[in-house]
Amino acid sequence: MADLALSIQQVSKVFGGIRAVDGVSLEVSQGERRVMIGPNGAGKTTLFHCVSGAHQASAGSIRLFGEDITQLPEHERTLKGMGRTFQISSVFVDLTAMENVQLAVLGVRPTKWSLWRSVEHQPGVSERALEKLELVGLAGKANVGVKQMSYGERRQLELALALVNEPKLLLLDEPCAGLSPAERQRLFKLIQNLPRSLTMLMIEHDMDVALGLADRITVLHRGQVILEGSVDEVRVNPQVREVYFGQV
Ligand SMILES: Nc1ncnc2c1ncn2[C@@H]1O[C@H](COP(=O)(O)OP(=O)(O)OP(=O)(O)O)[C@@H](O)[C@H]1O
Ligand SMILES: [Mg+2]
Repeated sequence: MADLALSIQQVSKVFGGIRAVDGVSLEVSQGERRVMIGPNGAGKTTLFHCVSGAHQASAGSIRLFGEDITQLPEHERTLKGMGRTFQISSVFVDLTAMENVQLAVLGVRPTKWSLWRSVEHQPGVSERALEKLELVGLAGKANVGVKQMSYGERRQLELALALVNEPKLLLLDEPCAGLSPAERQRLFKLIQNLPRSLTMLMIEHDMDVALGLADRITVLHRGQVILEGSVDEVRVNPQVREVYFGQV
């Protein structure tokens, strides 16, 4: 359907004997904020990898804004409007916040440092980088080395990196994991204040964050979708309470 940002149909991912994702179908409308929850090992990150192109799905199809991207490599999915953050922190710690974002704007890695030095002053790069740092509340830390930044600030920086290519669909894998309550609240607000035109699919274990950000929630368990619904439907569902909260 034309108004879908993401359409996942019967996607599976098999690792050896493990069916980590098992016939998942999931549709996210344009502008929707969808949160995916589920116990450890449910297959959430694996499904993200299939969507982003980090993994090739073993079966099924994936459409981004109506276009079949199932066979496309990761960088082409990025060009078509997909952005993502990782469950594990992925910023370059020997650089400043600004340098990290500049590299992302230029699409190069620090191993090509000499190349980067020569294009550092390309018009617009610093401006674009600063704009993204402002979006995530880090403009005041632009020239601070990542090593001097708190874990929460690093996660804010990762969000800036994911926004560099002006994605239309943003995949967030546990952005608030490992943060203190204050840092979590700060990142939550930043995500909440991102433009509503940006479609989001987010994995989140923290139920306050999940329930606070989601338009709809999908529950994954043992590689399968066991429930999809509004925040209220999911909150009261007995199966979710049993599987996810360990209570009935
Ligand atoms: N590269 C891999 N090779 C083999 N097995 C894998 C690989 N990646 C994930 N798995 C397995 O697939 C299953 C789902 O893992 P996945 O990381 O997707 O779960 P998750 O829902 O993201 O869990 P968590 O909440 O702990 O992050 C697990 O059994 C895991 O061990
Ligand atoms: Mg995971």
